[in-house]
Amino acid sequence: MRIYRGKDYKDMSRKAANILSAQVILKPSCVIGLATGSSPLGVYKQLIEWFIKGDVDFSEVTTINLDEYKGLEPENPQSYRYFMNDNFFGHINIRPENTNVPEGLAPEAEECARYDRVIRQAGGIDMQLLGLGRNGHIGFNEPGGAFDKDTHCVTLTDSTIEANMRFFEKAEDVPRQAYTMGIRSIMQARRIVVLASGEDKAAIVKEAFFGPITPQVPASVLQLHNNVTLVGDEAALSMM
Ligand code: F6R
Repeated sequence: MRIYRGKDYKDMSRKAANILSAQVILKPSCVIGLATGSSPLGVYKQLIEWFIKGDVDFSEVTTINLDEYKGLEPENPQSYRYFMNDNFFGHINIRPENTNVPEGLAPEAEECARYDRVIRQAGGIDMQLLGLGRNGHIGFNEPGGAFDKDTHCVTLTDSTIEANMRFFEKAEDVPRQAYTMGIRSIMQARRIVVLASGEDKAAIVKEAFFGPITPQVPASVLQLHNNVTLVGDEAALSMM
């Protein structure tokens, strides 16, 4: 595992954006797996800046997002599709038809099978960007889940609902289920870039990358991947 240490959130976001833009420059038709949440926002902002300057071109890129709340329509401002359009896709020259996010309103079995097909037909994921949940989740793969799953529907844990509450008016509004790429789908990505920022991620960063590999800490499976890069700020890497 490679570790890049940024001074702060802005610095780590720039480092991670450099890795992503290098991927796009080296293989303009690459397939990039993307995440929502607070961690990648700075990366998206930086990539938009470089796009505007003419340094990076997304016209041939395909993106495949990790997850989406079940039951939310794409126009819902809390949906991950809306988040991606608003924070990234709407500001760069990616073709909308080349962006993929699970469809929250689609029926479970069909949607999970369709999403696995999307990944397969794209030729697999060249580089997967991940955030890290405080309980070690990646995507919406919560502690205790199996490592051998592809896209599936999960019931969110109380701690994830609580963490995501900040984006909703009240706890009851947070959807209880989500579609997510499984650990197997994530592990099949050729390269994985994990982002971690802030003091509240320090303990889980240490546990995930230096503790035992166990389904109780889903991100610990990344220790078995042969091309993982961790990009963190001082605070998130402070216990290592
Ligand atoms: C988001 C996702 C989640 C987040 C994780 C960390 O698409 O799949 O696993 O990456 O919850 O969230 P932040 O970055 O908000 O701390």
